[in-house]
Amino acid sequence: MGRNLVTGGMGFLGTWLARELLNNGEEVVIFDMKRELPDSAADLKGKVEIYNGDISNWVHVVEAVKKYNIDCIYHLASMITIASRDDPPAAFRVNIVGTMNVLEAARILGVRDVIFASSGATYGSVINPPPKMVYNDTLQRPDTMYSTTKLCCERLGEQYHRQYGVNFRALRFSMAVGAGRPITYFFGDWSGVITMPAQGKPYTTHSNPLISCGYIYAKDAIQALIGLKNAPESKLRQRVYNVDGFMANLTEVVEVVKKHIPDAQITFDWDKSEEMKAFNNANSFKFDNTVAFEDFGYQPRYLLNEMVEDFINEVRKGNTS
Ligand SMILES: NC(=O)c1ccc[n+]([C@@H]2O[C@H](COP(=O)([O-])OP(=O)(O)OC[C@H]3O[C@@H](n4cnc5c(N)ncnc54)[C@H](O)[C@@H]3O)[C@@H](O)[C@H]2O)c1
Repeated sequence: MGRNLVTGGMGFLGTWLARELLNNGEEVVIFDMKRELPDSAADLKGKVEIYNGDISNWVHVVEAVKKYNIDCIYHLASMITIASRDDPPAAFRVNIVGTMNVLEAARILGVRDVIFASSGATYGSVINPPPKMVYNDTLQRPDTMYSTTKLCCERLGEQYHRQYGVNFRALRFSMAVGAGRPITYFFGDWSGVITMPAQGKPYTTHSNPLISCGYIYAKDAIQALIGLKNAPESKLRQRVYNVDGFMANLTEVVEVVKKHIPDAQITFDWDKSEEMKAFNNANSFKFDNTVAFEDFGYQPRYLLNEMVEDFINEVRKGNTS
């Protein structure tokens, strides 16, 4: 069994990944700039090692990889959309230099695998909306600081694979939802409509309740990361794959939530600003999962009904922030 470094391991997807790796009997070292595991990951305390560091700091990355004799780096540490927009130099350092540090540490220290979390946002969003169906070879036209850095990291990883033999593999996720996802104004509604009612609290959405969103449930995102890592090299036709779950709009999600929580208090207060419209449109596309299925067996296990039911159960178990 391998020794895994999960960068960004105190974040939403990182904690789900750490949990699943532990379930599989693997060792986990979390690399994160946060000092403490969030409440949503209290179950990981004492089961994972923690390296408190900054991914954009070369010394920290090399030290962590050497100290723990790492076999595989799951690289999830990142600044996401709004934070990257608000501080572009920091987004460059954390997302691009941070990924360079991971790739270079893997090259020099002989780390076996580097698995990277990229994003569907690389297909465009605000200025260049992606088509309704996105294939692996659809032209990527990033138009935000976040998505530009993610695309750059994909190309760097491919280069490190081609020229230096680093086993770089990556996934582009659509909107990931699940217990523990922070409920932010522009991107939080798709988790908020489940998290808050499951906690017995009211929730008001601000997104367009009728626009379809491409979803992936956190457990499917983790299944895909581990499946890609374990796939035989001979099966892989490319280094970066698109994966998603299903499409649904908020009205449809709320209907399912109310089947499980009939007294859920959910109010729609649609923000019709151009900014909200742009962010809503940015997530309104379906990925074709065919290549991911053929190459490493990925298919979503959680469609709308299964996702809502499992999500509510996880929130009630306490796996939420
Ligand atoms: N959540 C989604 O919908 C989604 C969709 C597509 C891609 N992704 C990608 O998946 C990955 C995980 O996403 P998430 O939703 O869990 O994000 P998150 O913000 O919850 O977690 C990111 C983690 O990275 C850490 N981090 C940030 N800067 C760091 C630094 N300089 N050094 C060390 N750690 C640092 C943060 O402390 C945080 O714990 C990211 O790379 C993200 O771009 C997420």
